[in-house]
Amino acid sequence: MLDDVNGKTILDIGCGTGRYAVKLAAAGAKVTAIDFCDSMISVAKQKKYAMKIDFICCSIENIPLQEKFDIVLCNLLLNHIENLNGPLFEISRLVKSNGYVIISDLRTDFYINKSRCFRMFGKYATDSYRHTQKDYNDAFRKNKMMLSEHHDLVFTRNMVKKYRRYFYLVGSTIGYVFKLVKMNR
Ligand SMILES: C[S@@+](CC[C@H](N)C(=O)[O-])C[C@H]1O[C@@H](n2cnc3c(N)ncnc32)[C@H](O)[C@@H]1O
Repeated sequence: MLDDVNGKTILDIGCGTGRYAVKLAAAGAKVTAIDFCDSMISVAKQKKYAMKIDFICCSIENIPLQEKFDIVLCNLLLNHIENLNGPLFEISRLVKSNGYVIISDLRTDFYINKSRCFRMFGKYATDSYRHTQKDYNDAFRKNKMMLSEHHDLVFTRNMVKKYRRYFYLVGSTIGYVFKLVKMNR
């Protein structure tokens, strides 16, 4: 879904340990990567090409940036936020009018209940929330973004190697990936 990123400005929101940010920086993009978890950012900063990235520790709900980006990414973060409107307002505010946004989210109904926490790097824990396609469509419209592509995230046999206990999900749709453009109005 990403076109050639060389020379493009990219905002990676909820960059985690930087798995996308470093690849994009290596491919010649000018990357700004944000996450509210400083221990995630510390891990990302150890990686090759991290020196080319501007990291900011902040929440998606209040991003201290004014410039707009060619591409805004937000992968696997929004399932940790109950109300989509605040984050989507920020995403829409920060993408250029001729740019695009890529969002992925897990269908939390497949593995989770509301109390399950994200604890990978200790200090922070957030609940998870389920968003339906309608929740997304309403929030996209409200924040002046239009869906240009939609793909299902399917749990593959390859993924079982990493997430063994979810073997029973092979072939199931576990999430969504959306590509969005700004509406011109
Ligand atoms: C599942 S990880 C995904 C990391 C990365 N995007 C990836 O796909 O590898 C979710 C990340 O979102 C961050 N996060 C969760 N809620 C956030 C918030 N309100 N503001 C900023 N970052 C947040 C977490 O700290 C975590 O690093």
